[in-house]
Amino acid sequence: MPKVTAMAHANLAFIKYWGKVDFKLNLPVNGSISMNLSSATTTTSVHFDGRLKGDTVILDGTELKPDDPRAAKVSAHLDRVRKLAEIDTSAKVETENNFPQGAGFASSASGFAALTVAAAGSAELTLDQKALSRLARAGSGSAARSIPAGFVEWLAGLDDHSSYAIQIAEPDHWDLRDVAVVVSDQEKAVPSTQGHKLVTNSPYWQARKNQVAHRLNRVTYAIKERKFDVFGQELEAEAMAMHAIALTSAHNNSNGTWTSGIYYILPDTLELMRAVQQWRADGLPVYFTLDAGPTVHLMCEAQHANQVQDAVRELQNDRDWQIIVSEPAGGARVIDG
Ligand code: PMV
Repeated sequence: MPKVTAMAHANLAFIKYWGKVDFKLNLPVNGSISMNLSSATTTTSVHFDGRLKGDTVILDGTELKPDDPRAAKVSAHLDRVRKLAEIDTSAKVETENNFPQGAGFASSASGFAALTVAAAGSAELTLDQKALSRLARAGSGSAARSIPAGFVEWLAGLDDHSSYAIQIAEPDHWDLRDVAVVVSDQEKAVPSTQGHKLVTNSPYWQARKNQVAHRLNRVTYAIKERKFDVFGQELEAEAMAMHAIALTSAHNNSNGTWTSGIYYILPDTLELMRAVQQWRADGLPVYFTLDAGPTVHLMCEAQHANQVQDAVRELQNDRDWQIIVSEPAGGARVIDG
């Protein structure tokens, strides 16, 4: 079978996927909306090869041990592809991220999107965008959104067939920028898998669920009509809604201690969030969103991106922050083979 190489971009959620109704199929509680990020990519090649005795996974140049949970997740995903293609051939997988682990970009979205496209290609499956998105979703929920290009909505759906992502607008529809400020490169303490499980512990969960359908409509409208303030206000309020759930997801820990909620933000994160309010008061149109980590994603229109970066650098002083600027990017695609 041919060796096929694919690339996919990470995506930034404007409406968050936070809570699942099915943990095996990764069916989300609510739909979500995102943009593919030009500066964060995964490139993956897959070669189903009859001579191999088992799957091998090489991540950023290092072969993963078979008992590494990341290798197990890749093999489980290859199993889905093998089942569809009705083969039992092992594969060699080589994958590289162009962004550092723990930089505040979910590598699972670009990773599983690229793996899906490369594996389907090597298995000689002909899958349309919907089928690829459904398959990527089973590997990692947010990967469903890295399959289509540009601005994307993941339709929550009711089952495996109806939960997949579609394009809202092409990448060149709106010249937005994500100025990501990476304030810490430490791995997050609580993985998102855990966060998804704990949502129902929050007493505010029902309120968030009631709100989200309206917000999906507003953000879709704002993207289609390029209404930046509508977009920004929904974006920032949504980030706080997700974090309100996380902050109030009280739980017992395996070591017997109790925690009142998940705190993803660090002091530097909060400082940036407060600075954004001041920058807007000073006339700079910029809004923030946060994922399950301390990185602050500052969203603005392209004509303000330099001003936003200057404002960040001034606040940064001599701290070790990394700024990564992205524009809307294309979908997951075969680049070789
Ligand atoms: O795909 P997961 O399980 O890593 O969940 C992603 C969760 C957030 O990044 C916080 C939100 C989102 O919609 O991407």
